[in-house]
Amino acid sequence: MFRRSAILLLATAAWAETGSRACAPCHAEIYRKYKQTGMARSSGRTGDGLESFANVTFTSAGAQYRVTPRYAVEFSHGDVKGSRAMEWFIGSGAVGRSYAGFVGGFLFQSPASYYSARKAWDISPGFRTKPFVDVARPIESPCLHCHSSGAKPMKGTENKYSDPPFAEGGVSCERCHGAGEEHVTRRSPIINPAKLAAARRDSVCLQCHLTGAARVARPGRGPGSFRPGDLLNDHITVFVWSRPDPTDRAATDHAEQLARSRCQQAAGDKLWCGTCHDAHSGSTRPPAATCLQCHSPHKDRSADCFGCHMPKGQSREGEHVVYTDHSIARRPGTSARDRVLQVFRGMKAGDRDWALAQPSRSVPLLEKLALNGDAAVLVQLAQQYDAAGLGAAPYQRALKLDPDNATAQANLGIYRIRAGRVRDALDLWRSAFDRNPSMIGAGLNLATGQLQAGDRPGALTTLGRILQFHPDNAQARQLLLTASLP
Ligand code: HEC
Ligand code: HEC
Ligand code: HEC
Ligand code: HEC
Ligand code: HEC
Ligand code: HEC
Ligand code: HEC
Repeated sequence: MFRRSAILLLATAAWAETGSRACAPCHAEIYRKYKQTGMARSSGRTGDGLESFANVTFTSAGAQYRVTPRYAVEFSHGDVKGSRAMEWFIGSGAVGRSYAGFVGGFLFQSPASYYSARKAWDISPGFRTKPFVDVARPIESPCLHCHSSGAKPMKGTENKYSDPPFAEGGVSCERCHGAGEEHVTRRSPIINPAKLAAARRDSVCLQCHLTGAARVARPGRGPGSFRPGDLLNDHITVFVWSRPDPTDRAATDHAEQLARSRCQQAAGDKLWCGTCHDAHSGSTRPPAATCLQCHSPHKDRSADCFGCHMPKGQSREGEHVVYTDHSIARRPGTSARDRVLQVFRGMKAGDRDWALAQPSRSVPLLEKLALNGDAAVLVQLAQQYDAAGLGAAPYQRALKLDPDNATAQANLGIYRIRAGRVRDALDLWRSAFDRNPSMIGAGLNLATGQLQAGDRPGALTTLGRILQFHPDNAQARQLLLTASLP
């Protein structure tokens, strides 16, 4: 017994993180320089003084918004009025900033963002198309794994976090160098990414700088389980399109673009992010001589290799980007139809990765894999079966393996109500909506089901909870009116 727990203790000690401040006494210059970078300042508690409060009002889809200097966003849409705290910022503000705030322990993205170039507040990227005030969009854990360090999601829910939601704002030293406690206290060696084998070295940057078209997590793993020194591919498999879609530029596509370059295809692992970027320096501009490591200068041209070969696009500002490729004249090879999904450079994908990356094309494969008892596979398979009304059995099996799966609960509820098993359906919807209040469908189904079953007090409680999270939901307001009628 004693031996076993001692071994366990050692295993945790090996991964103990100390936070960046512990590095400052001995690496003062790097610490000082790195703290100025966008990466180091990529998230934190609001109130660092970056924003201006001169332009605080905006409208979107008929709703009015106003941001207060105490970081609350007030909204009004018809007779719906309310306000939400913006306790956390995400993004250094080099281009822009998004915000998040807690409601009932759940963390939601703010509809208001700050746009640095215009020094103005406006609707968040991706929110403009919503015809209602959307204040219940979850901050999913990948968001915090890329923008903060030591993210603290709670088990069994989809966007519930401890408060504060992360141990350190921004990208900490240890996200690239691995846990440092042993190095700090005993001078044991610590990882230097540049000294790792190429695929492990690249993985350090790609954990955050590669989004791709699909990211498939290995069972029990995900972006949050990666540690420097690991192969990213042992945690997730990333798929990319064989050709870029000129209208779709993810903010995190640097690695994908680099992998398309003739330079990396020909030079291979000699070229990586670190060839051109010093991760500790705030400047993104590589030294002029960088290209000359491998190329000789043109005789007839200036030395500004980057200006011609790596030109800047328009500053990316979410939906405010003017990037109109009106490709009515279809240039051969650029249309989306010609694209196929590929595994990202150097990664390997097994059957399971392929099946989860494109589930609608992989039903026979999913059926085969489902025999292994794999909750992620079962939920995907069930969703493919939904159109034919055959998803109940795989949802049920998925829930045996992963009782917290809110998607499976919400969808199985629909099969249960159709089969007349009202109580089961209501229990499933209640559980899904408790775990993830962004699942408005489960909430509305629950309220409707309760009303139909004659449980008016229950329905009123549910509707109150829906409106706490989704104050501008027309269906819930309508149901509340019906339920309140004598
Ligand atoms: C008590 C002083 C001290 C503290 C605190 C400290 N280091 Fe070091 N670190 C050193 C010394 C001395 C070296 C150079 C000798 C060596 O390589 O072991 C070093 C070397 C390194 C290297 C280079 C390793 C290599 O193989 O190239 C990295 C990376 C590093 N430290 C990161 C960190 C990080 C990250 C932290 C904070 C978690 C940290 N250090 C905290 C003293 C310290
Ligand atoms: C834990 C996630 C994470 C890791 C690991 C990471 N980055 Fe970043 N990086 C970011 C985020 C997030 C930003 C955007 C920061 C912002 O402006 O909010 C960024 C921005 C940058 C920038 C722009 C300048 C700056 O500092 O903001 C460069 C250059 C960069 N990263 C290079 C690298 C390189 C090279 C590596 C690997 C050695 C790496 N990054 C590893 C998340 C990460
Ligand atoms: C896979 C990692 C990843 C995820 C997930 C991710 N980001 Fe980012 N984000 C980045 C990187 C890297 C950049 C730097 C820009 C670039 O690479 O072009 C960035 C840039 C940004 C910026 C602009 C910062 C600036 O430079 O001013 C904002 C704002 C932002 N992200 C918000 C979010 C929010 C909110 C979420 C979650 C809903 C999110 N990001 C999810 C990696 C990520
Ligand atoms: C985004 C990834 C990233 C972050 C964050 C980061 N480093 Fe590094 N660090 C690197 C890389 C890559 C190298 C190797 C540079 C090279 O030799 O090309 C390096 C090298 C080092 C070295 C050894 C070489 C040298 O320049 O002395 C030390 C020490 C170090 N880092 C300390 C730190 C400390 C302290 C922090 C936090 C304040 C930090 N690093 C944050 C990526 C990172
Ligand atoms: C690590 C070495 C390396 C670095 C650094 C490097 N390249 Fe290359 N690049 C190559 C190789 C190898 C090729 C392929 C040469 C060939 O096919 O003959 C190439 C090809 C090219 C091409 C031809 C592209 C095409 O489609 O045919 C251009 C342009 C280019 N590089 C520009 C640059 C510029 C500009 C920089 C600096 C921003 C740079 N390279 C940095 C190795 C490198
Ligand atoms: C051949 C050189 C080269 C390589 C390799 C390279 N970059 Fe860059 N990167 C640049 C240049 C040039 C800029 C623009 C610098 C400027 O003008 O500020 C840039 C800018 C950036 C920026 C700032 C946002 C933007 O798009 O302007 C980020 C983030 C970034 N690079 C990340 C990466 C990552 C991650 C990798 C590895 C996958 C990488 N870069 C590899 C040359 C390179
Ligand atoms: C004024 C714009 C401009 C500048 C500055 C520039 N290039 Fe080019 N480069 C071009 C064009 C255009 C081509 C294509 C030439 C062709 O197809 O005849 C090219 C082609 C290349 C090629 C492909 C092989 C070749 O020689 O045809 C390489 C490699 C290259 N450039 C590297 C560089 C490097 C390194 C620098 C910086 C020292 C640089 N370029 C500066 C415009 C520029």
